[in-house]
Amino acid sequence: MSGLFLYAHRGASAEAPENTLAAFARALEAGADGVELDVHLSADGVPVVIHDETLERTTDGEGPVDAWEREYLQALDAGSWFAPHFAGEGVPTLDQVLHLLAGRLRLNLEVKDVRAGQAVLEALRGYPAADVMLSSFDCGLLFALRRAAPEMPLAVLHDAGNWRRALGYAEALRAAAFHPRADLIGRPLLTACRSLRLPVYAWTVDDPGEARALARMGVAGVFANDPAGLRGRLFPRPVATVR
Ligand code: G3P
Ligand code: MG
Repeated sequence: MSGLFLYAHRGASAEAPENTLAAFARALEAGADGVELDVHLSADGVPVVIHDETLERTTDGEGPVDAWEREYLQALDAGSWFAPHFAGEGVPTLDQVLHLLAGRLRLNLEVKDVRAGQAVLEALRGYPAADVMLSSFDCGLLFALRRAAPEMPLAVLHDAGNWRRALGYAEALRAAAFHPRADLIGRPLLTACRSLRLPVYAWTVDDPGEARALARMGVAGVFANDPAGLRGRLFPRPVATVR
């Protein structure tokens, strides 16, 4: 239980705007074990860190992410929607995030744009000390990554449909982990993962009761929007007694 690995989901996204340098810096301060982030590709082929395919929800920009060049995306305001004092947080490039976090905690780069694989591998070449796991819902992309990077740790994301088929892909990929949506996890899935020696990391979990139950079942870690809050509720500090 004490070993439950906590990824900060999109950075510490309950405390700062998701997928910004502020959210990643906060994840570091909060003592997360790892950071999860989402990667798209700019119009000029640069991996950038944002969840949605379009800009409207989390920035003051409009349209598809891949319609704009890196410089424009970096200059957007990706912070004000969350709270006014985050105004000026831009859409970071993957390189900026690696510069901040590589070698400091584990990084799970979720590759959202299936065309971004090669650019992500190239960006990682500059950070040999980075402890990285690449994940995707798209198994075609994962197989391409496996061919290009035979030793790269990969994880299969799963959110619907047949988990046995997803596990078959994970085995064929020599994946390092399986990342199912938390509510899909049950004993049969965990037994199958155990027999493949595949650690399971569940998303997204901020409820301590749910985290405890998953840990008891053998889940290796969770993706939490509020890793500091979850850790505090899982392991409350003893109240000092005054004599
Ligand atoms: O990688 C886990 C989780 O981030 C997958 O879903 O939509 O939050 O990227 P999403
Ligand atoms: Mg993600």
